[in-house]
Amino acid sequence: MGMLDHWQPVARTEDLGRKPLAAVVAGHQVAVFRTASGKLGAVADACPHRRLKLSAGEVVGEKLQCRYHGWTFDACGEGESPGAPKMHTCTTSYDVREEHGLVWMKTRQSSPQFPTLDLGGFVHVGSLVHDAPAPLELTMDNFNEIEHSGTVHKNFGYDLDKMHEVKVGFESTDDSLTVSNVGPTKRLPFLDRLYIGIKPGDLFHDKWTTWFSPLHSRFDHWWTSADGSQERKVRWRVYLFYVPVTETSTRVYSMLYAKSRWWPQPNGGLRLVRRYIRNQTAAEIDADIDMLQYLADYEPGLAGLKLSRFDKSLGLTRERIQRIYRGEGGTRTPLRIAG
Ligand code: FES
Ligand SMILES: [Fe+2]
Repeated sequence: MGMLDHWQPVARTEDLGRKPLAAVVAGHQVAVFRTASGKLGAVADACPHRRLKLSAGEVVGEKLQCRYHGWTFDACGEGESPGAPKMHTCTTSYDVREEHGLVWMKTRQSSPQFPTLDLGGFVHVGSLVHDAPAPLELTMDNFNEIEHSGTVHKNFGYDLDKMHEVKVGFESTDDSLTVSNVGPTKRLPFLDRLYIGIKPGDLFHDKWTTWFSPLHSRFDHWWTSADGSQERKVRWRVYLFYVPVTETSTRVYSMLYAKSRWWPQPNGGLRLVRRYIRNQTAAEIDADIDMLQYLADYEPGLAGLKLSRFDKSLGLTRERIQRIYRGEGGTRTPLRIAG
């Protein structure tokens, strides 16, 4: 398996209208489009004629038309030239599908499993896209570690001065990693305390699992009484999908879900606070991304780092990215932009 062989998101459904989109996945430029009948297509974003970006063109009927000399391409990549009708061409095309409010893409020849989302009882409250100015590994390191919640986050996490009390549990399988953290919650903003029902002395529970085909994590956040016997009113579930763009940038797609025990069920008032939750989550991910711009360098290797007990998963994550996602045993594959 190579990097393009996994099902990966390339856009939110709402961002793909009648205008084609330019996406970059693992250094490969792709034009994604929706035909007049609603069918999705994805082709290499370089016209085989003279290499204009096909994403700069427009959809005409069931085809994507190049803006330069008007050659047209269908979703299978079959192209024809209006000026030389006997000249047919074929460009690289990809499998595309739309699920969970996102548009996904993979190579034609691969047959990976499509990622399943476990959403029993959860309500969708929003989907976001963020661009991180850091390589894939360093971006994933940020999201797969809770120690920075003491300083970087406001709406969840642990107090810096109680970080030593946080218990970290760790489980791994051949193709996943799960980390469970529990400790005294930090003090949240008033509205969050009120809505979630957090009381002084409560515990914050953070559990996440990361998988590698495609690269994604599921985070669960919930609060309980200090003895763990009573769960508070609201719990969050967030899925993040990580898509490497270039050597130094990574796109993060987030899907936010919540479960509330407030009246009225089954929504528990989530419709009312949906915008607030979305904005708060966007601000938290912005805070993560902001931190990544201050890294002294973007070398993804771990040699020489003084890793803490919260960083135990970093090495295992790298091994799985290399073996499962990049599909290679040896060195990191460079992500140069290629048409
Ligand atoms: S470059 Fe696309 S039609 Fe000429
Ligand atoms: Fe974070």
